[in-house]
Amino acid sequence: MPPELRPAAVVILAAGEGTRMKSATPKVLHTLCGRPIVGHVVESARGLDPRRLAVVVGHGREQVAAYLASVDPEIRAVVQEVQHGTGHATRVAMDALAETDGEIEGTVLVLFGDSPLLSTETLRTMLAEHQRAGRAVTVLSAIVDDPTGYGRILRAGDGGESVIGIVEQKDATPEQAAITEINSGVFVLDAKVLRDALSRVNRDNKQGEEYLTDVLGIAAADGLPVGAHVVEDWHETLGINDRVQLAEMRRLLNRRLTERWMREGVSVIDPATTWIDVQATLGRDAIVHPNTQLHGATVLAPGAEVGPNCTLTDTFVGEGARVTNATTEGAEIGPEASVGPYTYLRPGTKLARGAKAGGFVEMKNAEIGEGSKVPHLSYVGDASIGEGCNIGAGTITANYDGVAKHRTEIGDHVFVGSDTVLIAPAKLGDGAFVAAGSAVSSPVGPGELAVARGRQRNIEGYVERKRPESKAAKAAARAKQATESAAAESADRADGGAADGGAVPGA
Ligand code: UD1
Ligand code: CA
Repeated sequence: MPPELRPAAVVILAAGEGTRMKSATPKVLHTLCGRPIVGHVVESARGLDPRRLAVVVGHGREQVAAYLASVDPEIRAVVQEVQHGTGHATRVAMDALAETDGEIEGTVLVLFGDSPLLSTETLRTMLAEHQRAGRAVTVLSAIVDDPTGYGRILRAGDGGESVIGIVEQKDATPEQAAITEINSGVFVLDAKVLRDALSRVNRDNKQGEEYLTDVLGIAAADGLPVGAHVVEDWHETLGINDRVQLAEMRRLLNRRLTERWMREGVSVIDPATTWIDVQATLGRDAIVHPNTQLHGATVLAPGAEVGPNCTLTDTFVGEGARVTNATTEGAEIGPEASVGPYTYLRPGTKLARGAKAGGFVEMKNAEIGEGSKVPHLSYVGDASIGEGCNIGAGTITANYDGVAKHRTEIGDHVFVGSDTVLIAPAKLGDGAFVAAGSAVSSPVGPGELAVARGRQRNIEGYVERKRPESKAAKAAARAKQATESAAAESADRADGGAADGGAVPGA
């Protein structure tokens, strides 16, 4: 930001109730693409590096203020007790800033907290034009097909160049209502002009409110230079009033995000079913298959391949790793590792290079060493596994004894047979083996084989005695018969030479 364009203050108005959301959550805290509505506005404002940033809060003030503090403790949350209009809200903010910082000098930007698509770029262009033209007030306007509900920009009859005022829909004459240039709600103003005009704004209108829009008319009537900057893409000025609009905006923003990543060299196979949060980052030649959500600070390294049907939250996926049909949160998937299908990786899971978490595997707080594989139907929690291990199908770390959690430590090149329970705290040394079906409850030393199950014993004739005439008994009898006749036949063949005569050498 060139220093001459740096605003003295940005004021974001967000005190309204948002009745049409029909929600216990304040309107501006509803999220799109991983960030609350007001968060998007705050980020666009922060892009201008303003000296002060104030947000006017009212309805749901505690929640909104708490969110703002989590973004940046420097943001001022100014309370507007009763909502007397956009002009009143701006005045409350200017007064609060003056109280702590002294009267504001320079350029002030006013934005609405419910218009999340407005970009820093647009604000910067508008600021530059305001400065260049030496104006006292610049409004961001848009030409739209249907201006219903918006304030209309009034221009003088002299060829339509000069802006003279703004009239709200409710106060407009039919001729004024036919105007299609609308007020977006974004203003750039000289602080002094703003202060002075706000002190003269009255409530003589249909809504009985102090309109911020009247500031422009007052300045124009004073003979000060005012103007409108027509936005290039009117979508940027769209505000959210209900959940239908929220969903539309979400799709619009998501489209922008997926297109941006495609231009950076990412393959998004189906942008319509791919959802990428603003904070996610994707490397070149990453591939995202349909129906995939990349939430939070998820990172796909170059060449990572994710989807279809994946929901990744705050997850790192390394170069060349492959994740399919998986749900992950707070996981770190190393380069060339493989995850899925139907895999659930929970916080603290770390797969090293080339490791595998296969079908129907759940992991939590678990480190899996280089090249180690947990291919099927397992639960690995509170565990560390060294490199080159093979953990058999159906292995379970029993990490919870009903009171506390315990760890399982497995060394390098360990082989665990299928259907094994490792009862934590458990320790398997380097190169240890565990027989299939074991319930391991004491440590296994390096290179030892643990067999922790009953020895097999077969009871002959059991089915014949207990279930005579059953299908099982008949099947067993047939099998026995077959074995016996096969044995008799081969015995016959062994004696056969002598019985036949002739073939005996030297006979
Ligand atoms: C406003 C504009 C209108 C413009 C439209 C663009 C005025 C008088 N009208 O109308 O010209 O076309 O936005 O969307 O400015 N707010 C407060 N305190 C208040 C009142 C409002 O903080 O006392 C906040 C709201 O939370 C909201 C924003 O200001 O974020 C706009 O208020 P809203 O009531 O939605 O104004 P509109 O009637 O839509
Ligand atoms: Ca509105």
